Amino acid sequence: MSSSSPNSAEHPPAAYLDHAATTPMLPSVIAAVNEQFALTGNASSLHAAGRRARRTVEEARERVADALGARPSEVVFTAGGTESDNLAVKGLFWARRADDARRVRILASAVEHHAVLDAVQWLGAFTGAEVDWLPVDRLGRVDPAQVRDRIVNGRGGPAAVAAITCMWANNEVGTVQPVPALAALAHDFGIPFHTDAVQAVGAVPVDFADGPSAPDALSFSGHKLGGPVGAGALLLRRETSLVPLQHGGGQEREVRSGTLDVAAIAGLAVAVEEAVHGRVERAARIRRLRDDLIQGVLSIAPDAVVGGDVATEGRLPGNAHIAFPGCEGDALLLLLDAAGVECSTGSACSAGVPEPSHVLMAMGYDDSLARASLRFSLGHSSAPADVERVLGVLPEVLVRARAAGAAARARKAAV
Ligand SMILES: Cc1ncc(COP(=O)(O)O)c(C=O)c1O
Repeated sequence: MSSSSPNSAEHPPAAYLDHAATTPMLPSVIAAVNEQFALTGNASSLHAAGRRARRTVEEARERVADALGARPSEVVFTAGGTESDNLAVKGLFWARRADDARRVRILASAVEHHAVLDAVQWLGAFTGAEVDWLPVDRLGRVDPAQVRDRIVNGRGGPAAVAAITCMWANNEVGTVQPVPALAALAHDFGIPFHTDAVQAVGAVPVDFADGPSAPDALSFSGHKLGGPVGAGALLLRRETSLVPLQHGGGQEREVRSGTLDVAAIAGLAVAVEEAVHGRVERAARIRRLRDDLIQGVLSIAPDAVVGGDVATEGRLPGNAHIAFPGCEGDALLLLLDAAGVECSTGSACSAGVPEPSHVLMAMGYDDSLARASLRFSLGHSSAPADVERVLGVLPEVLVRARAAGAAARARKAAV
């Protein structure tokens, strides 16, 4: 039996290889959350119960700040990665343009998660932002020299750039971006820089400590690092102004109104601390398992194409992105699921039609290779049995997926 199946009480044991989608909550997090669930108190109330809740929140704020090199006053608690990204991207754009109407451009990498991608597109469609998508190379990397060129030579020059956003690490192919270099570059021109570090915190070194190469705003999410779903934060410099998305009680420096979720925040702090402090040992263990998985897959399917950067420091330790030519990723996923392996494809299903991933298209994949891709992602509970399970079922799964792929192509050709 795989030691990593989070659902083994209800379902047959499965090898869970989708930690980038969400990873099991750590026992210490569950304990911290449960402890808070038994208590009451609104952190904005002035009585004893409220003051206790406030103390819990402020202790959590200090622990999160400490783990990520931030000041406690720079931590804005939110309801997760999507909210943090929207708050940063829209809030920065609105604040910068309000200060100077010439600032209408946003530079964003072409491989952002939809939480940034769609927020940027929305600004373009509804608030007059001019969006400049930053290209990536075949490994999914943004080139700082190209970014400099876009800042300097884009319409209106540096004075027209409201903000730059680039993720720290990609959720599909695991590529780690040169965030310190990009932040330093933005600061050369006095432009604020945001990064979506949802996949990076706890996986690679992430430091918000002040300095020219640190971002001005950084998003992360609890459920990617062993914390609760629906808890996250935006790290935000005191001097960086942001127009809030939601208005109300003025909590969190008036940029994020809403009653604070004390239990989720307490759990988030425990998760961030454990994820960051145990990172080096955990990353080394996960990387070894991931490399065994990739080597094993390549020995079964020598034509498989491994996506993303293969350099150790250029790739998330838990990410294995593999395309199987001649197969449909969706068919592979379902066959693997039936065989007790849980992973994901890169395709996003919009209105029932599977679209090839925008990340892979930006990296120069052709449509069929993009559709043939799977993402296996390992995490803190991954064990050798998970890798063995994949390698054990893969030969049979590939035979069936290739047959299904060939039949689908024949049907298409006959139409
Ligand atoms: C890179 C990245 N950004 C943002 C998000 C969204 O985070 P959340 O699920 O907490 O809203 C995800 C989740 O998959 C992600 O991988």
